[in-house]
Amino acid sequence: MKKIDKYKLASLPLTLFFALGIVGSVAAVDVNKLVKDECADCHENDGNSTDGETPSIAGMSVDYFVESMGAYKTDARPALKLKDKKTDMKEVVNKLSDEEIQALAAYFAKQQFKPLKQKFDPGLAKVGKKLHRKYCDKCHSEGGTSAEDDAGILAGQPISYLQYSMDNYASGKREMGKKMAKKFKKMQKKAGDEGIVQLIHYYASQQ
Ligand code: HEC
Ligand code: HEC
Repeated sequence: MKKIDKYKLASLPLTLFFALGIVGSVAAVDVNKLVKDECADCHENDGNSTDGETPSIAGMSVDYFVESMGAYKTDARPALKLKDKKTDMKEVVNKLSDEEIQALAAYFAKQQFKPLKQKFDPGLAKVGKKLHRKYCDKCHSEGGTSAEDDAGILAGQPISYLQYSMDNYASGKREMGKKMAKKFKKMQKKAGDEGIVQLIHYYASQQ
């Protein structure tokens, strides 16, 4: 009995030391400055991109955010250099430490996602809604608006970004989870490439 008590007492300061150490190093990241210097040019300070091409990253779950950043690093996901921009996601991620990525994930998860105001085709969106319910809503719940599935936010993203993402999945340039691949292929078989366009207009219609 006595031995255990001693052990507990001795280990307490060490636990505290580690806990403070971790908190201390996250606090050392000046996340506001990091966002302003490294992200705001394309994603704005609050993560709601307005250029009609860059995805919004406000409100994304920490898990999805960290996984996405990692995927650029390992090339599981290609990085797109937009016209008139100086850099791309791979170059951005390569400059960041794990601590900075964690701090950025927490920062953007706290921001409110604002769906993009954009033109869409209501006819295509109507069919897309049905396809979404049948093949996608299980993991992209509430019409693709929920961040809680750790699968990104689809509703309210720019049409050109949605098209780019779908093309990358369809061509295999971006790795897709096995379960999503199964549903995606089923959807394509049933609705063809038109189905992809209909889904995109459904996501864009949610504003
Ligand atoms: C030069 C413009 C630019 C800068 C700077 C930039 N991004 Fe991006 N970001 C993009 C573009 C374009 C995409 C989508 C295309 C792609 O996948 O490459 C994207 C995609 C992302 C995604 C994935 C979104 C999704 O829906 O899956 C995350 C997360 C992200 N950026 C975070 C950041 C963070 C954090 C910073 C700052 C440290 C940053 N970006 C800086 C242009 C930029
Ligand atoms: C079994 C779960 C599952 C199903 C079903 C599913 N997805 Fe996904 N989806 C995911 C996950 C997890 C991610 C994020 C990680 C990744 O890239 O694999 C994702 C990511 C995406 C992205 C990229 C988001 C971004 O911001 O870049 C798009 C677009 C997408 N899915 C579309 C669809 C469509 C359309 C369907 C229906 C045809 C569908 N998904 C069905 C799990 C699923």
